[in-house]
Amino acid sequence: MTHAPKLTILDDGDAVASEAARTIAAVIAATPGAVLGLATGRTPLAVYARLREDVAAGKLSFEGVRSFNLDEYLGLPPEHPASYHSYMRREFFDHVDLCAGDWHLPDGMADDPAAAGGRYEVAIRKAGGIDLQLLGIGENGHIGFNEPGAPFDSRTRKVALAASTIAANASEFPDGQTPPSHALTMGIATILEARRIVLLATGPKKAKALGAMLSGPVDPAVPASALRLHPAVTILCDEEAASCLHDGIAAVR
Ligand code: PGA
Repeated sequence: MTHAPKLTILDDGDAVASEAARTIAAVIAATPGAVLGLATGRTPLAVYARLREDVAAGKLSFEGVRSFNLDEYLGLPPEHPASYHSYMRREFFDHVDLCAGDWHLPDGMADDPAAAGGRYEVAIRKAGGIDLQLLGIGENGHIGFNEPGAPFDSRTRKVALAASTIAANASEFPDGQTPPSHALTMGIATILEARRIVLLATGPKKAKALGAMLSGPVDPAVPASALRLHPAVTILCDEEAASCLHDGIAAVR
């Protein structure tokens, strides 16, 4: 059975970030010991900025919250500036009152990625599952690093990155360095187990992927289309990202 994600189209990326931060704060307020699924990339940067501001202003606390990130590059040490460990510390963890030990990312230096993926799944389950999963969307429709073709029953595992993903993320790496070819990512089945999902899409480069996610078939060729199998998905996007959506898709503007 498929579901229609709730689509909210906002003026711009700032409005998307504010709404996402409000949603996260509401889940934390309503859920003692909330478990968040967190995302990296350019899109959520403004969300983390809002959350940092709210914590600094004393309006929000992450005490008791636990978090699990979607993915990490394989072969990058946590201290590498382009690792998602570094990103999360720089943008969020080092600035808020989330306790060390309560945030988690897949182990990009694991000798045995399959075992590390299995351990990550167990840790999520032991935490009680994810209350709110934050997602971006790749220009190719990926979620996490689940690239086109990723099975809908996939779990946290080693994956090869699409050439387009490597190109899209190359600017995050110091000059002359190319992104790793592989990553550890939560699977699509892992993501679909979150109780609630919020997908963010901003800018014109995301318009085609959003259109394919919502208007095309539910098919592994467009990994984000799997979210139509989940009953509680909200899409927060800006006008530019919504430009390929046809009129038949119900949206709150
Ligand atoms: P971006 O990445 O936010 O940097 O565009 C999103 C994604 O690839 O999921």
